[in-house]
Order: sequence, then structure tokens, then C-alpha cells
Amino acid sequence: MQDNIITIAYDHPGAGQSSCSTAQAWAKQPREPNPEEKAELITRIKRLLKEQDAVLVAHYYVHPDLQDLAEATGGMVSDSLDMANFGHQHPAKTIVVAGVRFMGETAKILNPEKRVLMPDLEAECSLDLGCPADEFAAFCDAHPDRTVVVYANTSATVKARADWMVTSSIALPIVKYLKEHGEKILWAPDRHLGAYVQEQTGADMLLWQGSCVVHDEFKMQELIELKAQHPHAKVLVHPESPRAVVKLADVVGSTTQLIKATQTLGAKEFIVATDNGIMHKMRTLSPDKIFLEAPTAGYGANCTSCNHCPWMAMNDLFGVAEVLETGRNEIHVDPAIGLRAKVSIRRMLDFAKQINLPTRGIGNV
Ligand code: 13P
Ligand code: SF4
Repeated sequence: MQDNIITIAYDHPGAGQSSCSTAQAWAKQPREPNPEEKAELITRIKRLLKEQDAVLVAHYYVHPDLQDLAEATGGMVSDSLDMANFGHQHPAKTIVVAGVRFMGETAKILNPEKRVLMPDLEAECSLDLGCPADEFAAFCDAHPDRTVVVYANTSATVKARADWMVTSSIALPIVKYLKEHGEKILWAPDRHLGAYVQEQTGADMLLWQGSCVVHDEFKMQELIELKAQHPHAKVLVHPESPRAVVKLADVVGSTTQLIKATQTLGAKEFIVATDNGIMHKMRTLSPDKIFLEAPTAGYGANCTSCNHCPWMAMNDLFGVAEVLETGRNEIHVDPAIGLRAKVSIRRMLDFAKQINLPTRGIGNV
């Protein structure tokens, strides 16, 4: 195996099973440019974005250089919901998505006429990997009486099988709405987010047993100890984290919702249980506040106990420049699958509009 490759164990639940088996995936180690390379790459990318009528859209977990560049060039940095919305609101003919593959696929499904590029097409997500389309289809076939709700972190084919797609920003109101309409739900793939939504809404939900390799690592006992050392700190938790960690939160929410909480809670200190890429936006918006990473199993013990998604980390300046120069790494989605997947995504976007859920990244509105 090449020495810039790291292996990652992730949960791979079989269809309808209640317990998980483990599978192995891999990621490439990020490349870090030196200061001269960085300056040259940024200048080159700015020129290429203009020449190619392209816009850069980044997730809060990717490298700070990409987040800053996206904002500096008229693109955006935000959560999965806003990223999905942005591409079709923006006139650019090419969308460069700095994130993981499902984010690029969602952009392509919503904008089939546009060219969607990604710095690295092999930037995966353990939730997507742990929910293969054929196993998921068998699970749905076994429960035809249930409305199928899938998280954004899934393949286009899984979305095509769903009635609704949701992101963590909007999962609660959508499931609440479905429950009020008497629907029983089949949920996939994240078991922690599913359990949280089930507990909050009281909906009848059958859960796929996937998990995020980053959030699954947060630990309750160590968090209790850190809270004791920082009694005034507010605890912010992404709902992909285990239930015991979610229980200790002052705020549970999507990346955008957690960033907003750092501005509205009136606290000076925060413990953050999500990927540490989010700290860049938090610190930029509130340079006077203190942000601590929530504890994981063992600092540096493996690539997923360092609070950073190994696949988000595969996005770098080199990759953005390369794809704009060469046109490589274009996302393609089978048009028939794309059309079906679009139905579940559009339902979510229309619902967000109806309930006036703000769908624009903060910091660049
Ligand atoms: P958000 O939609 O909250 O940004 O989450 C995406 C994600 O992949 C979290 O791990
Ligand atoms: Fe997937 Fe977790 Fe990475 Fe988000 S942080 S992209 S859920 S593996």
C-alpha cells in the first residue's frame, strides 16, 4: 500500500440486521503547500474560476484555505443543506464542490446541465459506504409500509429509492411533519441521528445502523470531565454523535446551527463535538471566544479519533487547481437515477422554503 494512504474501519450494517459488522475503507493523506506554493495556487485558482465561469462551494469541515477561498471568490462555505441549495441559485456554469462525494452528486442531481467538479472523487463518507444501494433496497422491500427518509450522506441510488432526503438542519421538522400525517418511517443510514430524531419527535422509526467514523468517537465520560474543568463552557454537539454525548449538549444541531449558537448563546467558552474543521469559522466569527474540541477515545490513536474527517481532508488547493485546469474529476450521475433522486431532494428544499428555514451560509450572506 502507498505510504500516503490511511485505512479506516467503518460500520457496514447488513440489510435488516440489528448489529453492525466492520469493513475497511481508505483515504489519502492531505497535501500541505508551502507558503510560496500556497500563494501561487490561490492566484491560479482565482484566475481559473473566472476563466471557466466556475464557483467554489466548500463545507465547514474542509481545510481553512478552501473555506476562505470559496468566500473570497463569490462562492460559499456552509452545511450540506445550503451547499445543495447554492449551486442552482448561482449562475456559474461550473460548480467546484470541496466536500465529500455525496455533496458533489447532490449538486449534479439538482443541476444536471452544469459541470460539477470535485478536487478528489475518492473523498467518501462512512455513512454512504455503509449503506450500499442493493442492501438498502432489500431493507426497503422488506418494509413497504414505511415512508423512506434518507440522510443527505448517501449515494444518488439510495436517494433515488427514498421518498425524502433530509440533512441534519431539517431532519426534525420533516420527520415531525411525517409523524403528524400518520406515517411510519424507515430511516437510513445514521443510527445516532435517527435515534435522536426518534426521541425528539416520538415518530415510529426503523433505523439502518450506519455511523460516522468521526462523530462516533466522541466519549461521554471524558466530556463530563472536560465540562467539570470548564464549568462555564457551553457544549455544542452534532447529532451524528452517540446518544450519551448528545445528552450532555446545550445545543444539538447541524454545522450551521452550531456556528450560530456560538454567536447567540452569550457564552465565552464552548466545547465542540463535531469535526474540528468547523473551528475555523467559529474562531473567525468570534476571535475573543475559546473553543475546545470534545474528547475522543484516544488522542492521535487513529485517524478517526483526531476529530477530523479523513475524506474531507482530501480536499486541497492542489486538487482545486488541477480539476479546473484539466476538467478531470467531473461528477456524473445516471440521468434516470438523478431524476428519481431529485424528487426526494426537491421535497426537502421545498419544505425548507415553506417553513422559512434560512438556507444560506452565515458569514457570507
Ligand atoms: P451538516 O449538514 O450539519 O453540515 O453535516 C454534514 C456532515 O457530513 C456531518 O458529518
Ligand atoms: Fe461522513 Fe462523518 Fe465525514 Fe461527515 S464527518 S462526511 S458524516 S464520515
